[in-house]
Amino acid sequence: MINEFLQKTEQELVKNCDLYFYSDSQVNKAARYSLLNAGKRVRAMFVYLTAQMCGADWEKYTDFACGVEMIHCYSLIHDDLPCMDNDDLRRGKPSCHKAFPENTALLAGDALLGCGIETAANSKEFSVEDRLKAVTMMCAAMGPRGMIYGQELDLKYETEKADKEQLALIHKNKTGQLISLCGKLGTLGCTLTAEQRNAVDVFFANTGLVFQIVDDILDVEGSEEELGKPIGSDNENGKSTFITLYGLEESKRKVEELTEEANELLYSQFGEKADNLINYTKMLSQRKK
Ligand code: IPE
Ligand code: IPE
Ligand code: MG
Ligand code: MG
Ligand code: MG
Repeated sequence: MINEFLQKTEQELVKNCDLYFYSDSQVNKAARYSLLNAGKRVRAMFVYLTAQMCGADWEKYTDFACGVEMIHCYSLIHDDLPCMDNDDLRRGKPSCHKAFPENTALLAGDALLGCGIETAANSKEFSVEDRLKAVTMMCAAMGPRGMIYGQELDLKYETEKADKEQLALIHKNKTGQLISLCGKLGTLGCTLTAEQRNAVDVFFANTGLVFQIVDDILDVEGSEEELGKPIGSDNENGKSTFITLYGLEESKRKVEELTEEANELLYSQFGEKADNLINYTKMLSQRKK
């Protein structure tokens, strides 16, 4: 089933590239290069798995799932730039600004951001009202109260040491907000109780945090070949991470604890319907890439 979701995502991302990035301009080529390059598509999977858990037809959510992947891809292109994390490898290939000039990469990121929103706004499967809700949630999650805020803090605490509360705020925003957005998009149009909605929110808040803790762990323990991005980047940039504040063992304990807590809560509200999402999340908490 995950394979079916993945196949659909790849197929639709190619279609979107043909729709938005069809000319042979350098910016279009750079956007295609980064978007069609072997991402795990975790955010699309979260949208689909959530919709499926709520009893909705998952395929209806394709434009939302792909829109989030395009926005995520934009964030990675900018995150790798020399003025940000300065990383030369992404998804196993030269980062966008290494394969193309830096200014082209910057613009390709901008292009993906706009087209990600356009993709969701144009979804034929939802009413105009629901599409407006979707793009409003997207803009809020990625903007200066969301992912951008997290990235700003992440950079700020390269020169200042963050405490545990500040680190939680960085992770919640730079990574958690887009992941929480997936839960919100996946439940759009579904009838849920207040308890179920709350369970989805808490589940994705925990899952977003876990996702970034594991990313921090892999930056220390992972293999560059498997990860497809440089290891030791956080240390080189003097970042405050879960490893610098809690150490490896405690970070791993937190991953297990938070995953367990999130999964139990989701199961208590959705029962076996939550199994696919729970199993996927468990798999991600043990990922090597
Ligand atoms: C990397 O995200 C950036 C983080 C927010 C941790 P992913 O690990 O989902 O990257 P891709 O999409 O699979 O390349
Ligand atoms: C990325 O965090 C958060 C984004 C908004 C892209 P990282 O800087 O840790 O992600 P990687 O390790 O480069 O993928
Ligand atoms: Mg970064
Ligand atoms: Mg980075
Ligand atoms: Mg990282």
